[in-house]
Amino acid sequence: MAAIRLENVSKVYSGGRHALRGIDLEVAGGELVVLVGPSGCGKSTLLRIVAGLEEPTAGRVWIGGREVTALPPRERDVAMVFQNYALYPHKTVRGNLEFGLRMRRVPEEERERRVREAARILGLESLLDRFPRELSGGERQRVALGRAIVREPAAFLFDEPLSNLDALLRVEMRAELARLHGRLGATMLYVTHDQEEAMTLGDRIAVMDRGVIRQVGEPLEVYRRPADLFVAGFIGSPAMNLLAGVFLRADAGWRFEGSGFSAGLPLDPETPLRDGMPAWLGVRPQDVEVVGAGEGDRDLQVEVVEPLGSETVVYLALEGEAGPGEGRPLRLRAVLPANRAVSEDQRVGVRFPRDRLHCFSGEDGKRIGP
Ligand SMILES: Nc1ncnc2c1ncn2[C@@H]1O[C@H](COP(=O)(O)OP(=O)(O)OP(=O)(O)O)[C@@H](O)[C@H]1O
Ligand SMILES: [Mg+2]
Repeated sequence: MAAIRLENVSKVYSGGRHALRGIDLEVAGGELVVLVGPSGCGKSTLLRIVAGLEEPTAGRVWIGGREVTALPPRERDVAMVFQNYALYPHKTVRGNLEFGLRMRRVPEEERERRVREAARILGLESLLDRFPRELSGGERQRVALGRAIVREPAAFLFDEPLSNLDALLRVEMRAELARLHGRLGATMLYVTHDQEEAMTLGDRIAVMDRGVIRQVGEPLEVYRRPADLFVAGFIGSPAMNLLAGVFLRADAGWRFEGSGFSAGLPLDPETPLRDGMPAWLGVRPQDVEVVGAGEGDRDLQVEVVEPLGSETVVYLALEGEAGPGEGRPLRLRAVLPANRAVSEDQRVGVRFPRDRLHCFSGEDGKRIGP
């Protein structure tokens, strides 16, 4: 299976809108890489450039070791599955699967073989003679995948292919896609704005923000060591708590002071920081220790309790700002086991475990320390 490589790809749309700025990305043969980021960050633009549907303003694209930057889509040997996978309503499932192959003048016997194989892989064998209107949303989605599979492309490109499905079906199809990837061993570049989908599906994820890739890595590596404030706030649910303050020199290293908290940091004394340098302290809601009032480093008032069944999210009142430049009142989010009794207006103690803290520069937002 072919690798995909992008080198210094930029895209400026007419009107001077920079959709992509100097993107470097490599997808190994057989690898599934998920591009994840908020709406408008340039995910679809990037995918369309790989497919050849959009021309980059600068930079180069390789598929399977061959430079394709100037080649039209049909010469790139990639199959793309979109969010709106319009099937032909007057063709059966078999007709839909076959259509692209007929257009490419693939001989009948070969067509038969590929349709049979795709139907087997996707569990569509019993549906081949039905029309799209006689299928459920998930089944239609599988037919759309099937149309890509029968092409036997060098690589698959997916642009939010599951976002039209309801939550339950989406999770089911996600597992199916993962299985499909395992079975085909195919190279896949997959776009989503859903960080949970990215985490569960990707061999690696690339987190995008306003036209640049902020971090590329294995999902857990990105979760455990977000490279900057943006990734820290984007990956993980509920979002990581980010507190504004300063780094101060301490006896055995550094500490953080801000938002009413003072915390020893997991940074060695040699870390190149300045005393009083602007800082952000990050702590995941799952890592906040909630104890009895007076037993923690600081007492806080419970403002909102959200029981989710499997766990409970509590929001604790803090003075300060909610995130870089957000200007909302700051609440500390904490995740508690469901059987833990907490009520609104109660006061609780809070502790931050030192080895679970994330430090970011208040100047450029980059991660500091391990
Ligand atoms: N044809 C176009 N002409 C001008 N600007 C465009 C065009 N297509 C996209 N853009 C702009 O480029 C930026 C990136 O768009 P893109 O569609 O790649 O985002 P996306 O990450 O896929 O977002 P979403 O999650 O909403 O699909 C956006 O600001 C968008 O408005
Ligand atoms: Mg898009």
